[in-house]
Amino acid sequence: MAQLPDGDVAPLDGALPASVLANSSNKTLHAYLHIPFCRVRCGYCDFNTYTSSELRGVTQSSLLDDLLAEIRFSRQVLANAGLPKREFSTVFFGGGTPTQLSAAQLVEALSVLRYEIGIAAGAEITTEANPDNVDDAYLAELAAGGFTRISLGMQSAVDSVLKVLDRTHNPANVAKAVAAAKSAGLQVSVDLIYGAPGETVEQWRESLETAIALEPDHISAYSLIVEDGTKLARQIRGGDLRQPDEDEQAEKYELADELLSKAGFGWYEVSNFSRTPETRSAHNLAYWRSNDWWGYGPGAHSHIGGVRWWNVKHPATFAQKIADGVSPALAREVLSDETRITERILLEVRIKDGLAIEVVKTLNPEAAKPISQAIADGLIEADAALRGNLHLTLKGRLLADALVRDLLG
Ligand SMILES: C[S@@+](CC[C@H](N)C(=O)[O-])C[C@H]1O[C@@H](n2cnc3c(N)ncnc32)[C@H](O)[C@@H]1O
Ligand code: SF4
Repeated sequence: MAQLPDGDVAPLDGALPASVLANSSNKTLHAYLHIPFCRVRCGYCDFNTYTSSELRGVTQSSLLDDLLAEIRFSRQVLANAGLPKREFSTVFFGGGTPTQLSAAQLVEALSVLRYEIGIAAGAEITTEANPDNVDDAYLAELAAGGFTRISLGMQSAVDSVLKVLDRTHNPANVAKAVAAAKSAGLQVSVDLIYGAPGETVEQWRESLETAIALEPDHISAYSLIVEDGTKLARQIRGGDLRQPDEDEQAEKYELADELLSKAGFGWYEVSNFSRTPETRSAHNLAYWRSNDWWGYGPGAHSHIGGVRWWNVKHPATFAQKIADGVSPALAREVLSDETRITERILLEVRIKDGLAIEVVKTLNPEAAKPISQAIADGLIEADAALRGNLHLTLKGRLLADALVRDLLG
């Protein structure tokens, strides 16, 4: 499982330094709740999630109680820091599989967020879900409780690809879940993964076409990452499965862009496509624009006013911290101005609305040279650059990481 960074010691009372006051002005506040349960672990996944035999006594209801305790704790920390009162602009339940909790439990967590800190009127409230563990009644209960959006882990429409990925659902589950979510009045996003070992370009086309035919509001298309320490990495190392090929991955991204844009889905972040600007993920945009968020639960990361911290990973260790009445943070980092700007460039360059060239120049006064080169190489649009913005072309989206390295000099 991915290791957490080292960082500085986090204070037991969670107290934030005075610097957050200056760095939080003009920032909206967002909530992420991490639900670390999965029925089965998919071979490619290194998220902080546990199957029932790995939980060391933690149960769904004890985890919920611990999350609610962290929400109450956060209200105190935010108030003590002297920050002006802000309601949450978005809420996102992620995992793991949040829908391993009952709908009533998810709605209860939402009510406590609303009561302790507040949720803005019209806020986007999303839960991730696996297609085979939600049904009509479940989704109707979520919608009635205030949820506005569901993000379904579809991954592929091809049975053999789902099997390589160790997914427990079949293609029919996705159509049922999308229909149930729509009839409950929820906005729908589906996640797709391209590049599973053995997946052909034609199979990827089939997944894209099937996803489009479901008429969701939003589609994420992720290139499969082979994470160290996963079963997939072991299978590839052992020669049982083939490493995704870089050129084929680029071809699959281009196919996604072509089919999705023809079907009316515009890209707004390298891996994310939405039917209209209103159906972009406001929560993910808040991360990419370095707003403030509190991440609740085991292993969750938070970012408030230029301070970042991350919670202890195992749900049992998290439970112990809560029982001791101390902050569940493992460590934290007070970001320097330079780190904040570097991170801003890394994230904002991937958003369609683009990154202001001025921001890049604050870190690299010589940036004009790599920018001219990027225009000549067809990575960014020349007219946007003349207006002072870096706007990626299709080729630029494929080479975004290398472009950032050049920009930073
Ligand atoms: C961590 S999952 C949580 C949602 C839910 N449990 C599911 O799998 O549908 C969120 C998304 O991360 C993506 N993901 C996880 N591991 C990945 C990997 N190694 N490479 C690319 N995408 C990955 C999947 O598309 C998944 O839908
Ligand atoms: S269901 Fe989702 S969170 Fe769980 S192991 Fe699979 S990809 Fe990871």
